[in-house]
Amino acid sequence: MNLLIYGPPGSGKGTQAELLHQAFDVPHIATGDILRGEVAAGTPLGLKAQPIMAGGGYVPDDIMIGIIRNRLQQGDSQKGFIMDGFPRTIPQAEALDSLLDDLGRRFDRVVYLNVETSELVPRLAGRMTCPIDQKTYPPGTEKCPLDGATLIQREDDKPEAVKKRIEVYLEKTLPLLEYYRRQGLVSEIDGVGTIQEIHKRVLTALGQSADVASS
Ligand code: AP5
Ligand code: MG
Repeated sequence: MNLLIYGPPGSGKGTQAELLHQAFDVPHIATGDILRGEVAAGTPLGLKAQPIMAGGGYVPDDIMIGIIRNRLQQGDSQKGFIMDGFPRTIPQAEALDSLLDDLGRRFDRVVYLNVETSELVPRLAGRMTCPIDQKTYPPGTEKCPLDGATLIQREDDKPEAVKKRIEVYLEKTLPLLEYYRRQGLVSEIDGVGTIQEIHKRVLTALGQSADVASS
């Protein structure tokens, strides 16, 4: 299963990708998480990415394509992957198509989580993030259930950065929807509801029942 989880900032990509990772045992490849790991480790890439991310802009395409090229060469993605946050621009999508082509792979489906902008801002303002593994949790969660770390607010979840992220999404990432629609790959999911309701909608769109996925 080679999947892309697509949607605006705060639409639940990370949340749903994690549930699919648990259900299908294929890696969740999230470029935002990879970048935040580099920032936390203070690598040259992290130092370059940090101010761009904090301001809500996009890291340059050539850097992101290099990250994904390396990531797809790791053995664990041979059985499939759930891509989250990449591609985000048309040049990234074209580069990924040619990369997947070289590997004899293609996306099986693009799951589009459709959430109105008015719902995104409060979700992001309250979101809590684990500083160790970057996983995100709903407002009010204090400790990471996986490693016990005290959860923090992401720097780019502050109101000004959120506004910018949504603007950049609309300008640079929304055109991808048409790109993948032309390839007949898009399943549009109503992304408003409980996390479990949306998980069931995603499974249905993938032709899987909730029982199959949890067995
Ligand atoms: P990235 O980390 O990918 O951020 P994003 O796309 O802005 O998306 P988020 O992670 O904020 O939201 P999400 O859709 O995953 O939602 P979540 O599940 O957490 O990228 C960050 C930055 O890195 C970019 O701005 C850019 O600078 C850089 N970058 C990354 N990739 C790049 C690329 N390819 N090219 C260039 N730059 C790149 O959910 C949000 C909140 O809502 C959580 O609190 C969650 O618990 C809650 N929630 C989830 N589902 C529901 C629900 N159904 N109802 C209510 N609340 C819910
Ligand atoms: Mg995310």
